[in-house]
Amino acid sequence: MKSAKVTVRSLRRKRREGQKIVALTAYDALMARLVDEAGADLILVGDSLGMTMLGYPSTIYVTLEQSLHHTAAVTRSVKRALVVGDMPFLTYQVNLEETLRHAGRYLQEAGADAVKLEGGQLVAPTVKRLVEVGIPVLGHIGILPQRVAAEGGYRIHGRSPEEAAQLQADAKALEEAGAFAVVLEGLPVDLAKSITDDLEIPTIGIGAGPHCSGQIQVIHDILGLFEEFVPKHTRRYAALAGDMRRALGAYAKDVQEGKFPGEDESFT
Ligand code: KIV
Repeated sequence: MKSAKVTVRSLRRKRREGQKIVALTAYDALMARLVDEAGADLILVGDSLGMTMLGYPSTIYVTLEQSLHHTAAVTRSVKRALVVGDMPFLTYQVNLEETLRHAGRYLQEAGADAVKLEGGQLVAPTVKRLVEVGIPVLGHIGILPQRVAAEGGYRIHGRSPEEAAQLQADAKALEEAGAFAVVLEGLPVDLAKSITDDLEIPTIGIGAGPHCSGQIQVIHDILGLFEEFVPKHTRRYAALAGDMRRALGAYAKDVQEGKFPGEDESFT
């Protein structure tokens, strides 16, 4: 049976009914199809693209054109999941007019269903305007990778009472602005639970414990494609980098030794 396309409404329904939301990143058509077929509800073409696919040291190098290019590749192959394009650094901070045009390109040119942008109260007016013109927005608070240079590195957010209160207010501001869901990245379990309980929209956690309405992970992390380090919040479900290295090594050896192609792989 063909399952219905996931929408911002069906995600809210899932949250109301206590069904967990499955989210993953993907950056190209093949991976996105596999993620979609595995039953993910939401696919984020994250600006983690910069590190996973483009070889940059952080997300801030990703351009709007690169992000749109990868988002379009994903939407071409996804049938069911809601596809979210992740607006890169400085594509939504300069002014509202520019932001609207940039966000609109995700829907018009790349076929995305929604956009994501980082920040809480500070970006709430922008979120409100995007939603007013018909662009669904996924919020993102906690660790904000686009601000990591200013922060001086990655750390768990919300451990002090002041910061916890700020994050709680940020989440509420995003809900009030009309965000359809909010990513909670790198928060203590109890704070993520308290924010989730306080909101009607779903929370999607990454490093924010089990009480969020759903979970998102970077696909390269859970498949073991990224080997440099394993983030604490990740569980590896495969070790594909090792498998690929073995397969590629075997191919190279066969070619070098004249064992490939054989009769079966040749034409008469
Ligand atoms: O860019 C990304 O992949 C993200 C997720 C980790 C939420 O923002």
